[in-house]
Formats: sequence, structure tokens, C-alpha cells
Amino acid sequence: MTQIKDVYYDFQMSSNKINATTIKQISSIVNDLITELLYKDDLTYNIIDFKNYDSYTFQHCLNVSILSISTGISLGLSEPKLHELGIAGMLHDIGKMLVPVEILNKPGKLTEEEFAIIKEHPVNAVKQLNNLVSNDILRAIESHHEKLDGTGYPYGRTANNISYYAKVLSVCDVYDALTSDRPYRKSAFPNEVIEYIMGCADTHFDYDILQHFIKIIVAYPIGTFVKLSNGQLAVVVKNYKENILRPLIRIINPDGTVGRDMDLLYDKRYMNVTIVDMGYDYECFGMKKILKSSVI
Ligand SMILES: [Fe+2]
Repeated sequence: MTQIKDVYYDFQMSSNKINATTIKQISSIVNDLITELLYKDDLTYNIIDFKNYDSYTFQHCLNVSILSISTGISLGLSEPKLHELGIAGMLHDIGKMLVPVEILNKPGKLTEEEFAIIKEHPVNAVKQLNNLVSNDILRAIESHHEKLDGTGYPYGRTANNISYYAKVLSVCDVYDALTSDRPYRKSAFPNEVIEYIMGCADTHFDYDILQHFIKIIVAYPIGTFVKLSNGQLAVVVKNYKENILRPLIRIINPDGTVGRDMDLLYDKRYMNVTIVDMGYDYECFGMKKILKSSVI
């Protein structure tokens, strides 16, 4: 996080000129990420772990890079391609450093003029990064807000004219943005965002890429609280990559004590139990008053 911050701040301090040393730094961060993600047994990404950092843009770039590399691994991309994809993820929003922060963090609705300025960020990034990164990385950054049906920006390109890396980035970008708190809206829960993204298959997002993307994220990150269809409350203790909607959970009894574990995927007794609601802290479902012991 610190390294990414430094890179973005250097870019701003040096009158928005990015140099080869900066790109080298980014490249080495991406190498580390790939090594870690390639040899990690479990690809599922507990995104809640990364939500506690202060600054949205840097955290967002790190998340998009990690999600893109993980999706790329699931898609079977070669290591050099994962590397390009990871760099594109890190740098995809660098053009936002040229957008006034009042516009970027405006709590209300943007005016048409303000939105027009935001829409320039992919093209501005390409101008700054020209000759510093490969053409494929430039095309990915340029098109990360394009949609298959041509309703995206900056050029309104359609499916065949959008680069493959950009199609991966756009899914990861939207997922991370919607699961994060922003000045103009609260974050949505992963399960809601997964439903939304799947609903945009073939219109905004590539269907095949989505199939791989949903394998690497979890609907209910470890530590989230869930309400069950039988009225019980529980906390998520483990996720299975075989099915991101059926985690292992630990029941919280009505008196606030911790109850038994319930395996929603492998224990046949619980096949008729579904998760109907979720929250990130004790206060959801009024648990603050009753929770008596540490849950996990
Ligand atoms: Fe963007």
C-alpha cells in the first residue's frame, strides 16, 4: 500500500509526469503479488481484509490488481500476461490524479461538466504512460470503462473492439467500487454485487470472464455476520471455493454465546437452510447488546 501511494504521489508531485523508475517499482510489486497468488492454494479472496486502509484510490488499485491477476490465473493466462494485467490494474485509475478532488469525492450527483472531466481519466492515463508500458497495457487502461454493448466511455467501443485485459479489469473495477464505501453512497454487500454483475453479463461484461471471476471472490467474507432462513444468526468462519454461497458458519445463540458450527455446503442436515441477510459488524441484527463472547 505504501509503495503504491508513493508511486501515485510521485506522479502528482512531478507535475503528473510518470517515469521509468516509477513503472519499475509498480512492476516489482506486481511480481510479488503474482508469486503470492500463483502459489496460494486457495484463490478465494477475502476482500474484507483490504477494506481498512484509508485512501480509496490506492486501495482500489491494489484490489483491482489482485482481483485481475487472480481472475487471470483462473483463466489460465501465462505469467507474462498476468504481469501485464497486474500492472494495468495498478495504474488503471492514475488519470484520476488529474481530476480535482472536489469532483472525485463529491457527495452529491455530478453535473454533466463534472462527469465529462471524470470521463477523461482513461485517456489522460494513456497520454502519461505512452512509451513507458506495453501497448496491451495502454489499451487495457484506455478501455476499462467500456461496455460490451457500446454504452461505456470514453469511446463507446463494442465487444470486439475492447481489449481482453480491459474486459477483465472492468469486472474487477466495478466489483471493488460497488463493495467499497464512497462519499456518495454506502458499499453494497458482495452477494448483492455478484448478482448485479451477473445480471450485466453480455451487456456490460464478458460472460466467460465472469464465470472465472466468480470463482475467485467470496460472497460472504470470513468474519461477516449472516442471518439464516430459519431465523438464527451466525458468523462466517470458512469459505469453500467449490461454492461461494454456502460457507461454514458458527451459530450465535440468542443469549449471545457461541453455538455449533453449521456446514452449509457439506452437511446434508442444513441443505434447506439459506442465508437471507448479512452485515459486517456486531451491530447488524442488533447483536451488539447480546454478544457475550468473542465469536471467532
Ligand atoms: Fe476508472
